[in-house]
Amino acid sequence: MADYSDIRFPSGFYWGCASASHQVEGNCTKNDWWAWEQEGGHIHDGRVSGIACDHYNRFEEDFALAQELGHNAHRLSIEWSRIEPEEGRWDMAEVNHYRRVMESLHRHGLTPFVTLHHFTNPLWFRDRGAWLDPQAPDLIARYAGFMAKELGDLVPFWFTINEPLVVVAESYLMGNWPPQRQDMAEAMLAARHLLLAHARMYQAIKEATTHRPPVGIVLNLPYFEPKNPDSPGDRATCEMTDAVFNQYFLTGIDKGIFPPPVGQGEEAPGVKGAWDTIGLNYYYRIRISEDFLTKGAEYGEPPPDAELSSMGWEVYPEGFHHTIKRLAQYGLPIYITENGFPTEDDHARGRYVLRHLWQMHRAISEGADVRGYLHWSFTDNFEWAEGWTPRLGIIAMEPGTLNRKPRPSAYLLRDIARANAITAEQLREHVG
Ligand code: FCB
Repeated sequence: MADYSDIRFPSGFYWGCASASHQVEGNCTKNDWWAWEQEGGHIHDGRVSGIACDHYNRFEEDFALAQELGHNAHRLSIEWSRIEPEEGRWDMAEVNHYRRVMESLHRHGLTPFVTLHHFTNPLWFRDRGAWLDPQAPDLIARYAGFMAKELGDLVPFWFTINEPLVVVAESYLMGNWPPQRQDMAEAMLAARHLLLAHARMYQAIKEATTHRPPVGIVLNLPYFEPKNPDSPGDRATCEMTDAVFNQYFLTGIDKGIFPPPVGQGEEAPGVKGAWDTIGLNYYYRIRISEDFLTKGAEYGEPPPDAELSSMGWEVYPEGFHHTIKRLAQYGLPIYITENGFPTEDDHARGRYVLRHLWQMHRAISEGADVRGYLHWSFTDNFEWAEGWTPRLGIIAMEPGTLNRKPRPSAYLLRDIARANAITAEQLREHVG
């Protein structure tokens, strides 16, 4: 058994959960995912998002529960297709809805962390070509500026786009998500437009507000490692995957360029330094062999003794420490905007959380400026193409009844959040 001692987090640390509109609100009928779900055959368990968690109507109840569970922050996304259901037309009733949502968060002592784009596109944006449309950056920036003008007084932290490279990979390279393209040239074009889109949104938020709130990007950075470190082929494929998937946005914004292979390092206008903070989504390690890109094994090749999630990816908390350290070199505050574990075994979720928090604390004590941890997710929800099968919530929710029932991991996180600390006892009990 490891020799643990109590660990404390920096004062003012943010604790809470993260979610996204389409996954929890219900009836997001005006976006591309909704339309795609209705086609049938795309969602692995045959379900649709439907009424989801009915969070659109039950946000008060959810925020009250989050408060009871010791949270002081909450990440959620605004559904662009509600705000701008037709190009250039703002739906003020929906703006007011999100105003009530933000007010409710504050009333419940939850600091809002707001994402403007979390995978879903309005139908009109899809019909114009979505991320292949050269106008895409300006169109989404107009929405970002509008939201910042409308809700700027209530939102202290803005995040532009969730996981842009996941969008590129799933929608334009692997063909898993709408519009189901498998086209390298399109993927590269989408990656260009997403980088510009982020920077224009950043600018638009700054221009729309007088207090110039911090704006960041949310990146999903898996920990890639060569399956066999002695194999030059494995190493080369791993480096290439990391360069595109993990490093493209970081270098792009840091230096204001389109890094290879998306570009040739030419200037990306207005992009340099367009971030005040980085949102990190960390879940797993992906071990890569030379044929990773052709093999179709999305989560790589975990070692035989690895612990896997119910979605098949490998638990690797050390990778969290490495990834935080990697981000720390940019000298910006870091927020953990997602970290979580799909499992039927809530005890395993608790262990996952503690092992990751321990690694996060290690990075903080080595100087990384991590200021919050937002667990994915609050309630079980619609997990994109996987449907309702993966259970990621600290709150169990049966799609039929919509009843919320906290799992033991919700109380574990509550105790940590309230104490802003983890005891050696908790580590011994849950990690062993
Ligand atoms: C992330 C997504 C989020 C959720 C989790 C499990 O990649 O941002 O919406 O699906 O994975």
